[in-house]
Amino acid sequence: MAKITASVYTSHVPAIGAALDLGKSQEPYWQPVFKGYDFSKRWLKDSKPDVIFLVYNDHATAFSLDLIPTFAIGTAASYQPADEGWGPRPVPVVQGHPELAAHIAQSVIQQDFDLTIVNKMDVDHGLTVPLSLMCGQPQAWPCPVIPFAVNVVQYPVPSGRRCFELGKAIRRAVESYDQPLNVQIWGTGGMSHQLQGPRAGLINQAFDNAFLDRLIADPEGQASMPHIDYVREAGSEGIELVMWLIARGAMADVAGGAKPKVVHRFYHVPASNTAVGHLILENSHDN
Ligand code: DHB
Ligand code: FE
Repeated sequence: MAKITASVYTSHVPAIGAALDLGKSQEPYWQPVFKGYDFSKRWLKDSKPDVIFLVYNDHATAFSLDLIPTFAIGTAASYQPADEGWGPRPVPVVQGHPELAAHIAQSVIQQDFDLTIVNKMDVDHGLTVPLSLMCGQPQAWPCPVIPFAVNVVQYPVPSGRRCFELGKAIRRAVESYDQPLNVQIWGTGGMSHQLQGPRAGLINQAFDNAFLDRLIADPEGQASMPHIDYVREAGSEGIELVMWLIARGAMADVAGGAKPKVVHRFYHVPASNTAVGHLILENSHDN
């Protein structure tokens, strides 16, 4: 059967993608950001996932006010990098995994989560920047990716609790797939940032680090934080952090297994308007 072996958490700051694409990653401003991912790139190469289930948010690229799915699973064979206003990023096309995606859709919908099934969509910085941070600038991404888009842009947004429960359902779905696949789940977006209004520029390092601590040690407790607390403490765009709870809910300890190993943790301020947070958790082989 397929197994979730690890979860990866990372911010998706669009300016990071632009810095990489324009050859600025070694400039003094960006160098410390990319340095935080040196270990992660080696780790990803060594861990050789067969599929990455990538939880992210679309920023009015594939969706708009015309259509606002709370949870959308990509079941396509491939996804084009989107044109976000400056032309599409010069990154590889994202290959999907329609068979596993269809299986997860079937299983998760039968577990009473209403997913929107997306057979065609472009993917924006929410998905491509995490891939760039973890993979650098390869000719092709290392494995197929299942994009899983969460609405954290237009209210009402899903609660952390619901995201955490959804992670549990995704784990059960993956583990009932009858192929021996090494699956990683990535939770992306965050950390604290606010792009609009009088509090634009808000960054809250104390909140971010407490979130990382609690995500590792007490994800159930973190899942009970209401969305209004994210908005107050982490800024209006800090609500992207609820997506990290989907990945965390899919880890083995939540289903009674061993605690995950923290293999990497990184935090840096600032990158553009955002605090960058990054974590890698590995499930024990005994799970
Ligand atoms: C910025 C951050 C985001 O998460 C985003 O989606 C757009 C912009 C920023 O830091 O400017
Ligand atoms: Fe964003």
